Amino acid sequence: MKISFCCKDTKAEPWLEGLHAALPDADISVWQPGAPQADYAVVWAPPQQFMDEQPGLKALFNIGAGVDALMKLKLPPQAQVVRLDDAGMSVQMAEYVSQAVIRHFRELDGYEADMRAGTWAFRKPRARADFTVGVMGLGVLGARVAKALTVFEFPVLGWSRSPKTVEAVPTLHGSQGFAEFLAQTRILVNLLPLTPETENILNRANLSQLQRGAYVINVARGGHLVEEDLLALIAEGQIAGATLDVFRQEPLPAGHPFWSEPCITLTPHTSARTLRDESIAQIVGKVVAMSRGEAVQGMVDVQRGY
Ligand code: NAP
Ligand code: GLV
Repeated sequence: MKISFCCKDTKAEPWLEGLHAALPDADISVWQPGAPQADYAVVWAPPQQFMDEQPGLKALFNIGAGVDALMKLKLPPQAQVVRLDDAGMSVQMAEYVSQAVIRHFRELDGYEADMRAGTWAFRKPRARADFTVGVMGLGVLGARVAKALTVFEFPVLGWSRSPKTVEAVPTLHGSQGFAEFLAQTRILVNLLPLTPETENILNRANLSQLQRGAYVINVARGGHLVEEDLLALIAEGQIAGATLDVFRQEPLPAGHPFWSEPCITLTPHTSARTLRDESIAQIVGKVVAMSRGEAVQGMVDVQRGY
């Protein structure tokens, strides 16, 4: 079995070592233009040339949850696309989003500024019931985040494409449920995949339907957010602020207005990192299962785009 590794911005050696250790009989190497045909590929944002030169691939294992970069390419028609299926990401996302929700709800930025200024002052406790958290996307990550927030007794509402059941979380779905979802939401968490249907979904028209003074947490993709609309809505007081982990251009360019907007908290696309050992174990398990003709979890529906 031949496995090709083609992952942008990823140090290859530890991945190759881990894959070799688990699959000692496999021929595993970093892809170079002109390399021989592989059976399987481990990829992150590969170039089109890779796909063009590997028409016989049986499966592409994406070393992340989001497959939007792959969906932009012309893929070998018979290649199955397999995403990382949690692999330690959902707990990271749950802790990141919970801290962002709590930081906003408890006004911890304000307390931090007060304490740095030597001010000992209390703010009036806010009513949790007024802070419904709306989670867009109830997949592997969104469902875990929604459940985590119920532990802190926030009212949580979920929204997905098709009907979904998440324990202790009321849900809405589709375009017919979207207006009600937005109207009830005070803290919006985006965990949608980036597809033609969801691109620019965090725009003026939709963000204006949130409760006044709403807070936005975007941990999915920069392409979901119309950045100038968010800035304008913050200036107008419709949006109180945002925590943003993902951006249209990454790294966020120097001089971008987000850097200097005090109501926006930024992190460098780090809310749920790919954990190498967990990911290798998962990919190896799936390679073995697929080579035996068995079904595996985390298959991407290429027509749907996620
Ligand atoms: P997932 O398992 O594929 O779930 C996607 C969810 O979004 C599903 O509930 C799906 O609805 C819903 N959805 C898709 N299109 C929709 C639409 N047009 N309208 C309404 N709902 C829609 O994805 P995931 O694993 O939870 O990950 C979500 C995204 O997080 C990834 O695609 C990636 O972009 C991002 N991510 C970011 C980081 C980071 O570090 N910032 C890390 C990992 C992932 P159905 O249930 O009806 O299919
Ligand atoms: C990271 O953004 C991922 O999609 O895994």
